[in-house]
Amino acid sequence: MLHDPNRVYVFDTTLRDGEQVPGCQLTTPEKIEIARELEALGVDIIEAGFPISSPGDFQSVVEITKAVKHPTVCALTRCNKGDIDSAIEALKYAKHPRIHTGIGSSDMHIKHKFNSTRQEILERAVESVKYAKRAVEDIEFFAEDAGRADIEYLAQMVEAVIAAGATVVNIPDTNGYCLPDQYGSKIRFLKENVKNIDKAIIAVHCHNDLGLATANSIAGLQNGARQIEGTINGIGERAGNTSIEEVVMILKTHQNLGLHTNINTRNFYELSRMVSTQMRMPVQPNKAIVGSNAFAHSSGIHQDGFLKMRENYEIIKPEDVGFPSATIVLTARSGRHALKFHLERLGYKIDKEELAETYQRFLTLADSKLDISDEDLHSLAVTRLVKE
Ligand code: KIV
Ligand code: ZN
Repeated sequence: MLHDPNRVYVFDTTLRDGEQVPGCQLTTPEKIEIARELEALGVDIIEAGFPISSPGDFQSVVEITKAVKHPTVCALTRCNKGDIDSAIEALKYAKHPRIHTGIGSSDMHIKHKFNSTRQEILERAVESVKYAKRAVEDIEFFAEDAGRADIEYLAQMVEAVIAAGATVVNIPDTNGYCLPDQYGSKIRFLKENVKNIDKAIIAVHCHNDLGLATANSIAGLQNGARQIEGTINGIGERAGNTSIEEVVMILKTHQNLGLHTNINTRNFYELSRMVSTQMRMPVQPNKAIVGSNAFAHSSGIHQDGFLKMRENYEIIKPEDVGFPSATIVLTARSGRHALKFHLERLGYKIDKEELAETYQRFLTLADSKLDISDEDLHSLAVTRLVKE
């Protein structure tokens, strides 16, 4: 079968980069539950863990390989034989195993993390890919801190690891440093200057330290990357990773990008809540796509426009991401249309004059109260209106 050049592969690292966050540690059964939901969501690759890091993580990777059928299951390693042997062992039951091995690529990491040289690091990278390749066909190489790496050296590294057998080359912006055009240009440079680049898929793996993880991931895809790595709810080290739900919905909303994934977007909301509960990590109310306010309209101007035609203020249908429904929130900033909408929802008929009078009493109440409940609306209504 011919490879579809517009297909974007979704690599979920909620159970590895996400689970590294203090307080987010999961038990093996919890990880299995999330892995099954990730499979139902349609992710292509699940990064199940870092097997050498602890016996518990090792066992979770083993159990996840047994629990899922379709996605590739991936295990993380550093560039050394012990890590790779452990990953090979943990992946032995996987139907589609992948090893994700890599090393620092920026001068900062080479000098101040590895106390090494570019040449030595390049050799370690190549050796590790070759070592892993003896046991597993699908090898992803990550060039850690690629966002700050010298582009010529990065290109040399990418070419060498592909020649050694890497099937995917991951270009992480580990520190969330890049601007979207810088990151996009990096990917474009690799696409245009690495002579064997067509033998591998380029992956984008962005962190959110400057709030640019999603924008950078999209810039990478626009410039030729075809795998996006991220987590549900954007959880991850420090300010987090790219939110998978954001990237997928951007591709769906902006069809002119011509890129598509295999994701069942209607599963997003439920999975978001499951991850939030299990990882004890609340979702901020204004989080794009899955936050509790993502489809809540509260100002009078917006509510009026929304009630006339929802597309005035809705670029994504809540049901497309499994969100219960859009809401019109009643506050002191709401207008008459919103009040009428809610009174009618509760079964009250109302004419213009009654609405004007009830609206004044509503404003007095709303100024003194954060939430206007259905109970409040009933009391406002019964003084004047006739219930149908
Ligand atoms: O952010 C990063 O560089 C990583 C690698 C281990 C892929 O998470
Ligand atoms: Zn990361």
